[in-house]
Amino acid sequence: MRTAGADTKAATGHQASVLILGGGVAGVIAARTLHERGIANFTIVEAHGELGGRLHSESFGAPGRQVTLEMGANWVQGTQTGDGPANPIWTLAQKHGLKTQFNDWFGSILTFDKSGFVDYSDVFSTSEDAYENLTVLAGARVDQQLVDLTARAGYSLVGAKSTDAHAMASEYFQFDWEYAQTPDESSWIASSWGNNFTYDTDQGGFGDDNQMSIDQRGFKHLIQAEAAEFLQPHQTRFNAMVRRIAHRNDGVSITLDSGEVLHADYALCTFSLGVLQHDDVTFEPALPDWKQEAIQSMDMATYTKIFLQFPEDFWFDTEMALYADEERGRYPVWQSLDHVNFFPGSGIVFVTVTGDYSVRIEALPDAQVQAEVLSVLQAMFPNATVPAPSAFHFPRWHADPLFRGSYSNWPPSFFGQHQRNLRANVGPRLWFAGEATSEKYFGFLHGAYFEGLEIATAMAKCIKGGGCAGLENFPQVKNALPYMI
Ligand SMILES: Cc1cc2nc3c(=O)[nH]c(=O)nc-3n(C[C@H](O)[C@H](O)[C@H](O)COP(=O)(O)OP(=O)(O)OC[C@H]3O[C@@H](n4cnc5c(N)ncnc54)[C@H](O)[C@@H]3O)c2cc1C
Ligand SMILES: *[C@@H]1O[C@H](CO)[C@@H](O)[C@H](O)[C@H]1NC(C)=O
Ligand SMILES: *[C@@H]1O[C@H](CO)[C@@H](O)[C@H](O)[C@H]1NC(C)=O
Ligand SMILES: *[C@@H]1O[C@H](CO)[C@@H](O)[C@H](O)[C@H]1NC(C)=O
Ligand SMILES: *[C@@H]1O[C@H](CO)[C@@H](O)[C@H](O)[C@H]1NC(C)=O
Repeated sequence: MRTAGADTKAATGHQASVLILGGGVAGVIAARTLHERGIANFTIVEAHGELGGRLHSESFGAPGRQVTLEMGANWVQGTQTGDGPANPIWTLAQKHGLKTQFNDWFGSILTFDKSGFVDYSDVFSTSEDAYENLTVLAGARVDQQLVDLTARAGYSLVGAKSTDAHAMASEYFQFDWEYAQTPDESSWIASSWGNNFTYDTDQGGFGDDNQMSIDQRGFKHLIQAEAAEFLQPHQTRFNAMVRRIAHRNDGVSITLDSGEVLHADYALCTFSLGVLQHDDVTFEPALPDWKQEAIQSMDMATYTKIFLQFPEDFWFDTEMALYADEERGRYPVWQSLDHVNFFPGSGIVFVTVTGDYSVRIEALPDAQVQAEVLSVLQAMFPNATVPAPSAFHFPRWHADPLFRGSYSNWPPSFFGQHQRNLRANVGPRLWFAGEATSEKYFGFLHGAYFEGLEIATAMAKCIKGGGCAGLENFPQVKNALPYMI
């Protein structure tokens, strides 16, 4: 399909212009991709005053004891094995001299429950095996073209039924702590792909290392330093909140909350799935049914790190600890930043909650969450006198209108054609990219990177060809077979 007015150089003689909406990893890599292909007339429009998006660091701690910590993404997940495929985030980390540290999730962990330290490392290991079995059986289902199910059904079918607190916490560590939702809410097949394509070298993955950024310039330094190599000041518009995206066959008009309207030939929307789901930005005309169905059918999950600083370290000497509560998902995964590998002497420990539990605590006052967290620490260390923390903080990603969650997760009722539709352009001028549009790496930084690269490559080809129909979409996603009643 070639639409009228698609000839981007013809009438006015100007070089096709592109508005890149959002300056996270996808937006910056899309900009670099256009730049490399000789398309210079683009502008990144970003609500914040800097690049990075969900790479977001803040200074935390009492005066004189502050450390720059990551409120958002923290790890390069899967790095590189030998000379196999490299995670492009790892490549950027090395190129820009980012300070990272291997984080030993499975080898440096102690187990606790409400009665303090209890060694259930055997249950924890069994849970690792069950997860492995879950991904293997998912692969067998794909080979046999069987339908997707919930990861919960998968766990049950591999014979792993976590009923007690120790087993539930161990399963949480394997599953929810990665996907930010429960196995009941997640696709069995896609969660297994999510694991395999990143971590499993037999499946094209990078390897199973997790490198944690401890760089005091923030993890965001890697994308800001990359941008500094090609981006000119006039190619960014910071502190610009987009309210409305109007798209036509011959161009786009973007309205900012100041009322100012920016016109361009093309727009690339990299706003999070959560932003698209919440109508924080309106589209004119409204997005077609196939696009809206795709947006509302993927999940935006939330992952919340709760940071505490104490006068001194009274907790575990390992990097990690697991706390098993009778209530699944209640303050389960703990990490010591006072550990020698991270920020020794910092007095900082943090705990992560996810999914509905994140939404729950975001609705509570800080003081109540702090009291709950301290009572868990007291249960873990019955002989310690847990002092008042000198600093306490957690980010509210779910409530934040620029994100509305932390990253996407693939539910079992999201089908392959929904995935294509989430990624596809709407009309010839409005395109989409971001972690959520990645089939193999949804949720991850490298998913955002690859989508910025691939979608901008497709756009550049389109622009140079004088216009195009773009990526295929499916007007209706139907059952593979009709239901028999
Ligand atoms: C708590 C947390 C932990 C995570 N941990 C990891 C991890 O360890 N490893 C990993 O690989 N990934 C992790 N992730 C996921 C990773 O951060 C994301 O996949 C990635 O950063 C997404 O990049 P993006 O460019 O797609 O989107 P974003 O970073 O969201 O970029 C979109 C940009 O659009 C801007 N924006 C939104 N709305 C508007 C508007 N209306 N007007 C103007 N600008 C707007 C936003 O400010 C943002 O800068 C984590 C994320 C979170 C939140
Ligand atoms: C860049 O795009 C704008 C908006 O379409 C246009 O007015 C301008 O002429 C373009 N600049 C160049 C150098 O082509
Ligand atoms: C995983 O599968 C293997 C091989 O079928 C089996 O022996 C083992 O018991 C399973 N482990 C768990 C925890 O399900
Ligand atoms: C995941 O990797 C395992 C081990 O390599 C493989 O057996 C399985 O088929 C893969 N699963 C999927 C869903 O691709
Ligand atoms: C706590 O104190 C009790 C009683 O003195 C002792 O038996 C127990 O081992 C201590 N626990 C820890 C974790 O130090």
